[in-house]
Amino acid sequence: MSAIALKTVGSFPVRRMDYQFNHMPRYWCNDESTFTHFFTALSLLFPEGESYFVRSVRALRSQIKDNVQLDKDIGLFIGQEAMHSKEHHAFHVSAQQFNLDPESLEKVTGVILKAIEKVAGKKFNLLVTVGLEHYTAVLVATMMTSTNELMRDETIRNLWLWHSVEESEHKAVAFDLYQHIYGSGVNAYLSRVAVYTFSLIMITIMSNAFMVVLMKRDKQLFNFQSWKKFAAFGAKEYKIFFPKFLQYYRPSFHPNDIDESELVAKTKIKIGII
Ligand SMILES: [Fe+2]
Ligand SMILES: [Fe+2]
Repeated sequence: MSAIALKTVGSFPVRRMDYQFNHMPRYWCNDESTFTHFFTALSLLFPEGESYFVRSVRALRSQIKDNVQLDKDIGLFIGQEAMHSKEHHAFHVSAQQFNLDPESLEKVTGVILKAIEKVAGKKFNLLVTVGLEHYTAVLVATMMTSTNELMRDETIRNLWLWHSVEESEHKAVAFDLYQHIYGSGVNAYLSRVAVYTFSLIMITIMSNAFMVVLMKRDKQLFNFQSWKKFAAFGAKEYKIFFPKFLQYYRPSFHPNDIDESELVAKTKIKIGII
């Protein structure tokens, strides 16, 4: 694996990564099928999901050319998300060795998102991105703090930590684009929280449905012991996530209200990236 900072013209770099996942263990998360399939399910949303984020931001980029810094950050956001799509897709290709056909679920994600994109307007698509960037920012803080320790394979752990660092670095870009174009008045606020609620429901249904499909394909659906351990983990995590998810409903919310710079700095040292 190598990491090269390609560009640092804006607020954060775009790193070129090339992880090799050939030797991954079957149950790389907590030695458990439930944990492994939950995080694989989440990962299966990324290649198509992050391409959708890129398209949603690109569709409105021309409207903020007067803001040079934001325009540069959008370029870097696109660079980072494109690299996340590529690396998570590579991970799914390697995971095919366990005959669970994860790529088929990646394709399902693409079909659903393209259908939404077709019927929804540019503002709606951007707001799905803004909302899910907050969802992701909440998840990655816990990933960097503790969840990464459950990852038994170093390469997979580094994939999640690198992605976490970059999600934290660019968490405000889509939000700033939205505010720059649509402002922060009552209408902008109501649209923002309505689409966020829709997006949270959508990602929860999709990630859980994909997890169940993977468990079924792996003949682990009735592994109640593993489900029990995962339920205890999920309940503990959601106690942390839930109040953070709710922060987005504050009218004055901004992603940078939450400072994770120290956590990001420590994680970069841990996985050896700049
Ligand atoms: Fe990403
Ligand atoms: Fe992101």
